[in-house]
Formats: sequence, C-alpha cells, structure tokens
Amino acid sequence: MCGIVGYIGSRQAAPIILDGLAKLEYRGYDSAGIAIYDGENIEMRKAVGRLSVLENLTHGGETMKGYMGIGHTRWATHGAPSDTNSHPHMNTSETIAVVHNGIIENYIPLKKKLTDRGYTFLSETDTEVLAHLLDYYYKGNPLEAITKVLHRVEGSYALGILFAEHPDEIYAVRKDCPLIVGAGSDGCFIASDVPAILKYTRTVYYVENQEVVKLGKDGMQFYSVDEEEITKEPVTIDWDANAAEKAGYEHFMLKEMYEQPKTITDTISPRLQDDRIVIEELHMTDEELAAVKRLHIVACGSAYHAGVTGKYVIEGLARIPVEVDVASEFRYRNPIMEEGSLVIVISQSGETADTLAALRESRDRGYKVLGIVNVVGSSIAREADACLYTWAGPEIAVATTKAYSAQLVALYMLAVKLAQVRGTIDDAAAAELIRDLRRLPDQIELLLGQKEKIQRFANRYVGAKDIFFIGRGIDYAISLEGSLKLKEISYVHSEAYAAGELKHGTISLIEDGTLVVAVSTQPALYQKTISNIVEVKARGAFVMAVTNEENKAMEKASDYCVYLPETNPYFSNSLAIIPLQLFGYYVAVGKGCDVDKPRNLAKSVTVE
Ligand code: F6R
Repeated sequence: MCGIVGYIGSRQAAPIILDGLAKLEYRGYDSAGIAIYDGENIEMRKAVGRLSVLENLTHGGETMKGYMGIGHTRWATHGAPSDTNSHPHMNTSETIAVVHNGIIENYIPLKKKLTDRGYTFLSETDTEVLAHLLDYYYKGNPLEAITKVLHRVEGSYALGILFAEHPDEIYAVRKDCPLIVGAGSDGCFIASDVPAILKYTRTVYYVENQEVVKLGKDGMQFYSVDEEEITKEPVTIDWDANAAEKAGYEHFMLKEMYEQPKTITDTISPRLQDDRIVIEELHMTDEELAAVKRLHIVACGSAYHAGVTGKYVIEGLARIPVEVDVASEFRYRNPIMEEGSLVIVISQSGETADTLAALRESRDRGYKVLGIVNVVGSSIAREADACLYTWAGPEIAVATTKAYSAQLVALYMLAVKLAQVRGTIDDAAAAELIRDLRRLPDQIELLLGQKEKIQRFANRYVGAKDIFFIGRGIDYAISLEGSLKLKEISYVHSEAYAAGELKHGTISLIEDGTLVVAVSTQPALYQKTISNIVEVKARGAFVMAVTNEENKAMEKASDYCVYLPETNPYFSNSLAIIPLQLFGYYVAVGKGCDVDKPRNLAKSVTVE
C-alpha cells in the first residue's frame, strides 16, 4: 500500500528510484512522484496514472539530475488520485520533501493548527501536514525536527524525507508500515520492500517502529525517537535475483501459479521427518500443544479463506474447536477467549494493518500468537510469539496464489501435528496423511498442465455478468477463494455460496446461461451437491464441476467437468484451487485486464 524508494550515492538517483518503484508498483499504482535534490533545489515531478507516465515525463529519470532523492507510488487514501495529491509533498519554500505510506490519523487538528499559523495547503492529503510540520519544527537540525514531528503525529507511517539544506543526507522513519534500508557499494537505499533494491544490494536493515535513519552516500546511522544513536545488525537477503522478475511469463500471476509445486515442497520439506511432523518454530512441546483448547484463526482476504479451510481440517482431524475471524471484525467484536486459546494469524505480507492489530490485541490479552507469514522479518513475523514461515518467496502479483497455497499446507501440517499429539489419529493415519501431503506438488503440476483446456473454457465467459461458486464443507472454503480470484482480477461479479444455501435467496439471480462453478471433492457430500446442481440447472444455469475422478455421476449432472487427482479429502482444496485460479486468470486475460495490478487494489494493506 504505497511504495517508497529513496537513494543517496554516487550514481544519478532518479533512474535508480524509478527502477525501484517499478518493482513496488504492486503496492499502489494510481499515481507516482519523485523529488531529487539537483545541487541547488529540490526538483519534483508527479503524475497521475501508472508509473510509466512519470517515466515518460522524465525519460526514465534521465532528465532529473542529482545524486539523492525520494520517490513514491500511491494507493490513494486521503484525496482522489491526482497530480496534486500525489507524493512527494513539500513545505511552502520547497526546501523539505516527504513521501509517506500509511495514515496520519490526527491530521485534521494538526492541519487546523498549521493553518492558524499561516501555512497554506495545496492537497487534500494527510501527508502534506508532515511537510509543513517538519518546516515548523526545523531550525537547522533535521533529526530534531523529525523526532519532534514523531511526538506529535498519531497513526501509521513509513517516510522518506529530504532537506535541501542537507544535501548529503536523506532520512527514513517508520511506525506500523514496512520500511527497510539497504547499504550498497554505490550508495544507500530506502524501500518499502526488498525487491526494490535487490538489484543493488543484499545488505538490508529492518527499521523498527519509531526509529529514524540518517542515510549518507557511504553509510547510515540509526536513532531512537529521543535522538539517541542505536546500533543495528544488517541482514543478508538470500533471495534468488530472478524471484522478483517475470522470467518469460506473461504475468507475475501466471509465474506464481507455476511456482506452487515448489512453494509447497519448500514449505513442507523442512517440517516433515519420515512419518513425523516437526515444527520447531512453534516453540511448544507436544504436551503444550495437546493442552490447546481452542484456536482463533484471524486473517484478511485470501489468508482468511485459507483460515476457513484450516477450520475444517483442524476440527476434522484434531477435534479442537476453531473460530475463524476476518481481522477487521475480530478487533472490535470483543471475542470471548479462554485459558488454553491459541491465536493463529495468517498473512502473506506480514504487514496487513488489521491482522497486525488482531495480533497485538490477542497478545495484550495474554494469549500466545502463532504467525503463518510469508515475508521474512515483517512486522507480524517479528511480533508473533512464534512464526511458521511459508516459503513462497516474493509474491508480486496483487492477487495471491502461491502464498495462499503455502498457507494451506502450513495449516494441514499443523492439523496433523495437533491430531497426533492429541491422539485423535494414530501413527498409521498420520503416515498416510503425510504421504498425501508429499504428493501434492506433483498433483498440482499435473493440474497446471491443463491450462489450455481451462483457457478455452474461460474464453467463453469473458462477457459474463455474474458467476457463482458453490460447494459444501471444505469445498465451500475453496469456493470463497475461487470466487475472489475471479472477481478481483477480471471484474466479473461473483459470489460464493455454501451449496445448500443458494436456494435461500440467491438462486433468484440464476438466469439462462449463468455459470455456476460447483466444487465437489468430499465423497460423503457428492450426492448432496448434485442435488444443488440440479436445482440451478433447472433455472437455466450452466454448470462447471470441479470434482474427483471417481465421482462418475457428476459427468451427467454437470455440463463441463474438471477432474482432480485423488488425495485425502482434507487436502482437496490444494488441488481444487488450481483450475479455479487458472479460470479467473484466463477470464481476466481474455477481457484484457491488467492481471497483476487490478484496479483499486494494492498488495499489502497497511491501513485499516
Ligand atoms: C487476494 C489477496 C488479498 C490478501 C489480503 C491479506 O488475492 O491477495 O485478499 O490475501 O489482503 O493480505 P496478507 O496475506 O498480506 O495479510
């Protein structure tokens, strides 16, 4: 949600900053801007629209001379996307420039105070308050001005700041929004996320809440909010440099779908030892795990959908009650928690504001929190009591695929582990489940091989108005995710329903030719789902079924069938999601949508 890049060093800054912003465009893409100190003044360029507009305006940054600067891609919160509302924002004398990710919650009273003191505002943003407030406190010492501002503002922020009077330094600071700094041989960098600077350096420092970083071309210093210098250890990023590149695929989303077999192998392998699941990162003994009385799974969007699957699998295998909450609801509903409750927060980015707030709420109440997180070193990973990493690597497409699949298998491992320590399954059953887990990557590979078939089918629905997804039990969980994948990238309206629920209202929306995607992977429920298919077909629906090969009755009941390889019914979501992802993807491609950057969205939602 908004991307920040800053650079100071011996090379021309603007092309480096634009290059970094391009890697962060998944964080926001309704406008972009850049400020460069050109040796005398701060030169600023801003443009509404994709980053390419700004790139064209500045010839890839070549027209902006100077060795230090800050840049931003925006996902609008306060004020519509426009040149004026784009970042950077400057003080009136144009000597201080700021880029911001997050929200300044008390910007209205601050704006009033500043206006009363004669400051004039040009934009509708909360960020402009920061530029004027910095101006107000600046008496020649940037660090002093920044820390004074930090004491006054409430909310969340990651900031890059430039002072024209200090041409040898740029500043970075954050609170509850991601920000890293990097040290390279040609200079130092600020970035919202690692991919922006991976090309230039692998030595990064994670900036903690309310730390201020002063970056020069040869190094950086870290300060507390009270201006005390602090020492930090760098982290070496060992990602494959291609991980954040498209590698010949048309879209990151397609590439990431194809990375799912590897992602699953990487996530399960370190935790499977013969017929046992060993999750050292839990830091819990078998006895402690066996004593868990209730689980609360909390997450947003697709991660929430993974949690819904987790509920079915954990309750089914380990017989522990599981509540699943959307994070933005969990915080404010005063959930009833009891001794022995364990909270699991799931997040790809590890920065989602609502999920992070749910984590903090749970810890404040004295409950242990386990994070299932993809981004190493992210806020959730650091603040959780224990963290089970999903080894999906960088996920660039806004719509999640591989990270979601990794979340599913992380939950399966947890379910089997809990079931073993609680004695709800015996060793033979655990061994069989583990064998099925190990088979998932190859089975997914097989399903990905059906992409042309799904593409041909999807092409028939590029003009669809509404598409419904139905399923029972665990198939309902995957219907939720299949429906979200389709609608978020193709803009085709879609809803997911528990198959038995459709006739309680929504069936009135079924018209001649409406596509209903029915997922049916649970042998005990085959017949029930077929009854629901019959109901929608009687109202004119065209039914695509996603089911197991053995479910022969589905051939006749539906109009089009996609068959899944045989696995344990508890793991079927991992297979069923593949044709659903491909379907959503190809409908979007067929419509000419910008698949990797769907309108109005951003990858990491760091505001409430
Ligand atoms: C959908 C999608 C979102 C995220 C949600 C949570 O494709 O990507 O729904 O799943 O915003 O994000 P994380 O997992 O980063 O907390």
